[in-house]
Amino acid sequence: MNNFPAVDQIPLPAPVWLLKALHDLTFSLHLASVGLLVGGLILALAFALLGRMQNAPVMVQASGMLIRRLPTVMAFVVNLGVPPLLFAQVLYGRAIYTSSVLIGAYWIAVIFLLMGSYYGLYVSAGFAARKKTWFAPGFASLLLILTVAFIYSNNMTLMVRPQSWSAMYMHSPGGLQLNTSDPTLTPRWLFFMIGSFPAAGAALMLMALRSGLADELSAFLTRAGGLVLAVTIVLQALLAQMTLGAQPGNIAATVMNDALYHTFFLGWLATAALLAVLGILAFVGKRANSLFGILAAVVAFVNVVSTTMVRDGIRDVTLRAAGFDVWDRQVAANWSVIGLFLVLLVTAIVVIAWLVSVAGKAKRVEENYA
Ligand code: HEM
Repeated sequence: MNNFPAVDQIPLPAPVWLLKALHDLTFSLHLASVGLLVGGLILALAFALLGRMQNAPVMVQASGMLIRRLPTVMAFVVNLGVPPLLFAQVLYGRAIYTSSVLIGAYWIAVIFLLMGSYYGLYVSAGFAARKKTWFAPGFASLLLILTVAFIYSNNMTLMVRPQSWSAMYMHSPGGLQLNTSDPTLTPRWLFFMIGSFPAAGAALMLMALRSGLADELSAFLTRAGGLVLAVTIVLQALLAQMTLGAQPGNIAATVMNDALYHTFFLGWLATAALLAVLGILAFVGKRANSLFGILAAVVAFVNVVSTTMVRDGIRDVTLRAAGFDVWDRQVAANWSVIGLFLVLLVTAIVVIAWLVSVAGKAKRVEENYA
């Protein structure tokens, strides 16, 4: 029996490949920002705690620099989450609307969890600026953020599991349930959470390049970033294997037999190996190195794009096995609107790049947290 609601009679306004490409690009940007947020917050908390315990001003300074930037990173997480949500709804509406309704109470709760965590980040950054301990609001914020990610993973795993929808609706029509019986959920959530650290490690290596930093601080950021990068990418590889292994039936094998997804899987492995090497080199090199820092950031982003693509493959193959083929949709492309959209997209990217370059050239505000 096909459990999906009837397809919308209105055809798609753009070809499936274009909507998917835009989805994958914007979701990769969202995921990279999530990495900076989650990894950055955990590292900031760890440095704050260890710095105070070991009386190490360099660590306290590094933690302050991180937490001060996280409210801005959160703005990127939220804003870069909206476009993939819109593309996902257009492409997979019949699946994602159903799963969102089934876990409705938790799904709606995301808004309030987000507001609470955002507030916690601002409070923490304010405390750090006044050299006060900010562990409690920072930790509370982290718990809320991890919960948001857990709810997202619940929805994304439930949307490809139509066989359990009816029973879940009977169990709680009010949406007071999660998809916790799904064996793919925990490894997948952990994969994304541990997967936050490589982006954060690369960001530390980039932060070490800022002009005017004391040598000791710059060396600490480089070494810590390198170590985090090298260790966590290996852990993430193990979780990738667990997540693929937990897929039901022959889903993982079918994904790997597809040339496109297989190429990105190999791309993931290659970039992971490169990140491990760059991390080790940064750790043993001891001094900030602009080549390593920039390379680590670029490779970390390509690694995230590869994750996005393999994740996309798992979703499409699982849905196809259940009778939902995302490519099987009527399209009535409206090229003038698509053209206008692309012009606005490119304009927005140029404006953001200009803003970043202006911010980069701005006079440095002195940061002193220790
Ligand atoms: C604290 C904030 C957030 C965190 C930590 C977070 C984390 C995540 C994670 C880990 C995933 C992958 C889940 C999986 O595939 O198992 C995800 C997916 C997603 N997130 Fe976020 N997210 C956050 C906020 C948001 C917001 C505010 C939006 C939108 C307004 C958003 C939009 C999305 C979308 C659309 C996807 C799935 C895209 C797809 O499958 O097509 N996220 N998020």
